Amino acid sequence: MNCNYSAAIIGTGSYVPDKIMTNHDLEKMVDTSDEWIKTRTGISERRIADESTATSDLSTKAALLALEDAGISAEEIDLVVVATVTPDMAFPSTACIVQKNIGALNAAAYDLSAGCSGFIYGLASAYGFISNGMYRNVLVIGAETLSKIINWEDRNTCVLFGDGAGATVVSRCDKGEGILSVKIGSNGNHDRLITQPAGGSRIPVDVESINKKLNKIHMEGGEVFKLAVRTMASVSEAALEEADITVDDLKLVIPHQANSRIIQGIFNRLKVSAEKSYINLDKYGNTSAASIPLALDEAAKKGVLKKDDKILLVAFGSGLTWGASTIKWVK
Ligand SMILES: CC(C)(COP(=O)(O)OP(=O)(O)OC[C@H]1O[C@@H](n2cnc3c(N)ncnc32)[C@H](O)[C@@H]1OP(=O)(O)O)[C@@H](O)C(=O)NCCC(=O)NCCS
Repeated sequence: MNCNYSAAIIGTGSYVPDKIMTNHDLEKMVDTSDEWIKTRTGISERRIADESTATSDLSTKAALLALEDAGISAEEIDLVVVATVTPDMAFPSTACIVQKNIGALNAAAYDLSAGCSGFIYGLASAYGFISNGMYRNVLVIGAETLSKIINWEDRNTCVLFGDGAGATVVSRCDKGEGILSVKIGSNGNHDRLITQPAGGSRIPVDVESINKKLNKIHMEGGEVFKLAVRTMASVSEAALEEADITVDDLKLVIPHQANSRIIQGIFNRLKVSAEKSYINLDKYGNTSAASIPLALDEAAKKGVLKKDDKILLVAFGSGLTWGASTIKWVK
């Protein structure tokens, strides 16, 4: 990329609600089994926010931890981006609520809707603003309370998702460090594959749409599965090529944590050893925009990531959207 500066993740933080819902809990709610869920998805349990907890609450906790990890104050943040499909409300943005909560009073703030690719989209925004010199420090958060929009009678979807938040502080750094490449893309021709049909201007939330459960997640899982493998593999290749590195240079790949079989499919296509993957979806399920920053924070805090390691982040989600980024770790 031809820019004046580069941008690096200098701090991470994450937060998940305390309440654990296991596959055995789900067996009591829908016609499913622990064995089916584990073998088809790799998920054992997920976290569920309580009634009074919204996406901004999870985001705020993750953001404060990321700021502490980065060693900078909230006043130094120039922009707060919250990637989410489960904002607190239609408006104001969840990002403005987080801005208030953490005291980032010198920042601009907005939400970003790109489904499970939201965090990579946020990273691309941060990279753009920082590399052109407009901003120095950007807080990129991926956060969801998907449990609030799950149809708990639909076994096709209710076993897959969970709640959580991950935050990163992205800051100006020397060229050749930090984010080496970031690629994002979308194809609205597949807009119906993962959707919450009601709640916007097309289908308002009213008695009829609630009775039809149109205010809940609808998904064509099989089709999503095939497109996810193909697209995440090709966007990963594009990000690697842009950074002029190969899979052999990578220490770690953190894929969107949707399904272990999707991840295996990507790794097979990219010819990367499974040992290079960081996976925590067994504990959290698919947390959409939160999944990558949640895994990234866990990997960083466990010491799996070391300074100068090269990593690949790759995601896919509703839209359809996709994105990948290669990063040279600077911490
Ligand atoms: C949803 C998903 C796990 C289903 O796995 P699959 O191997 O494709 O399963 P199929 O769709 O072929 O369904 C097989 C059967 O299992 C049933 N089934 C679905 N969910 C089930 C559950 N929780 N428990 C038991 N059976 C279930 C289906 O009804 C179907 O039954 P049928 O053959 O009698 O109709 C898989 O398609 C998937 O992960 N898709 C991607 C979803 C995703 O990650 N979305 C977010 C992307 S960001």
